[in-house]
Amino acid sequence: MDREKITLHGVPETMLFTLYARALDSRSPAPVLGDTEAARMVPRIDYDFERAGMGRLTAAGIALRARQLDDWTRRFLLTHREATVLHLACGLDSRAHRITRLPTVRWIDVDLPEVLAIREHLLPHPAGDYRTLAASVTDEGWLEHVPADRPTVAVFEGLSMYLREEDGKRLLQRIVHRFPGGQLLFDCCNSLALRVAPLVPSLRRAGSRFQWAIDDPREPEGWAPGLRCLDALPTAALPGVERLPWPGRLSAWLTARVPGVRDMGRLLRYEFGG
Ligand SMILES: C[S@@+](CC[C@H](N)C(=O)[O-])C[C@H]1O[C@@H](n2cnc3c(N)ncnc32)[C@H](O)[C@@H]1O
Repeated sequence: MDREKITLHGVPETMLFTLYARALDSRSPAPVLGDTEAARMVPRIDYDFERAGMGRLTAAGIALRARQLDDWTRRFLLTHREATVLHLACGLDSRAHRITRLPTVRWIDVDLPEVLAIREHLLPHPAGDYRTLAASVTDEGWLEHVPADRPTVAVFEGLSMYLREEDGKRLLQRIVHRFPGGQLLFDCCNSLALRVAPLVPSLRRAGSRFQWAIDDPREPEGWAPGLRCLDALPTAALPGVERLPWPGRLSAWLTARVPGVRDMGRLLRYEFGG
């Protein structure tokens, strides 16, 4: 089998860490997410996945996070039969393959051009109304390439913490202003995680840096008119934690009891518009 050589650095390299996490989960005896595309892709990539320093516990946590964001996306599509899904910073995530949807749903996977070029080689296009958009989400103007005719759910995983605060804030504002209504689904870290991240070996190896923390999930409500927080779930308390093997349950139990540590990673869900 011809393997695809990948030499990325910085934040784009981190998409290989989360891909590897989903592949490990998929190969485990009781997968949380069961992302078979991830398991299929990893052997096709020429890259030293040891750089991810990924243990089974962290992999299960990443799979739980992805599963929750999938569930929220599906829930939005149940009540919005004609909608746009804007999957930002998609990396090599096969969310568009995992979520079955009506032909009336438009799906757009967005990431940097160098990442989408790799994605094209490794992942088949899913069925339905699907396309990719090569852009930096912090650039002015990229959203003009996305039709504003439908309710839109923007889902982004493993992105917010790498953005500068002003860029993250502008991104949220642009999405809210562009579409008639919708939801924002994303993960974030808190200030404690921002301080700890420089000690994480895999992030150091990749040369990527956490820059933005959200300590109060209500704060973004003040950034754009009509933006309302619906959920803020600590990663350690996500549905499904109770079915992890005992080291995972113990770690989640301990994490949930230490103030500050509990909220180092959270999943946020906001709605806006009509
Ligand atoms: C940790 S990875 C997450 C990838 C994917 N969401 C996942 O969970 O596997 C971070 C991703 O953010 C993307 N990214 C970082 N900055 C970006 C930007 N300004 N615009 C678009 N994508 C960006 C990177 O290219 C990379 O794919």
